[in-house]
Amino acid sequence: MARPLLISPSILAADFARLGDEVRALDEAGADWIHIDVMDGHFVPNISFGMPVIEAIRPVTRKTFDVHLMISPVDRYLEAFARAGADLITVHAEAGPHLDRTLQAIRALGKRAGVSLNPATPAHALKHVLDRLDLILVMTVNPGFGGQAFIPAMLEKIAEVREMVRGRNIDIEVDGGIGRGNAGAVARAGANVLVAGSAIFKSPDYGAEIRAIRTAAASIAV
Ligand code: DX5
Ligand code: ZN
Repeated sequence: MARPLLISPSILAADFARLGDEVRALDEAGADWIHIDVMDGHFVPNISFGMPVIEAIRPVTRKTFDVHLMISPVDRYLEAFARAGADLITVHAEAGPHLDRTLQAIRALGKRAGVSLNPATPAHALKHVLDRLDLILVMTVNPGFGGQAFIPAMLEKIAEVREMVRGRNIDIEVDGGIGRGNAGAVARAGANVLVAGSAIFKSPDYGAEIRAIRTAAASIAV
């Protein structure tokens, strides 16, 4: 089934001194979701921000807060992220031993549940938890930093994920090195939610960049 194409700008590349204004600008620029990258310096080699920052920007927009947790252990923080304003909580398949339990916990909090796959993790790692999922996030770089180069081998994984979720109500998101140059390829492979950080924030006109990515994805989407 065809799912709507959504653009989810990552605020990791925003000017943190003016974060509220940046989120407002994304809202007005036509972002569908706001992608929020939480890093713990343990699961990934970088530290970003946590719940208080999400809570602070929650009043600025009504758009879906797409919270990407690159943290381990994750279970003990789920409730706090739900309370801070997350609408969709994505955890990493590699981040803990009991993924099925984690996904149940996210849904029990009334939130949509996502799982992210590192580049080396195969699509079939999620084969037995599909009933618990609203979104699969295929990392197209190794998580931890913005501004990295897209890994072309991930196109095959996106296509495998698309086959695996066929007929189900599951979004396929891509994250890392996405821009107008590869939006068409990832959409054709099966992704319908495109995260972009540096591509959007490097542009002087966020709206124009979001439109360019959307147009590139829509033009050859299946
Ligand atoms: C990487 C993050 C991404 C990152 C994307 O660990 O999950 O969301 O911000 O940034 P770009 O689009 O610059 O690769
Ligand atoms: Zn992310």
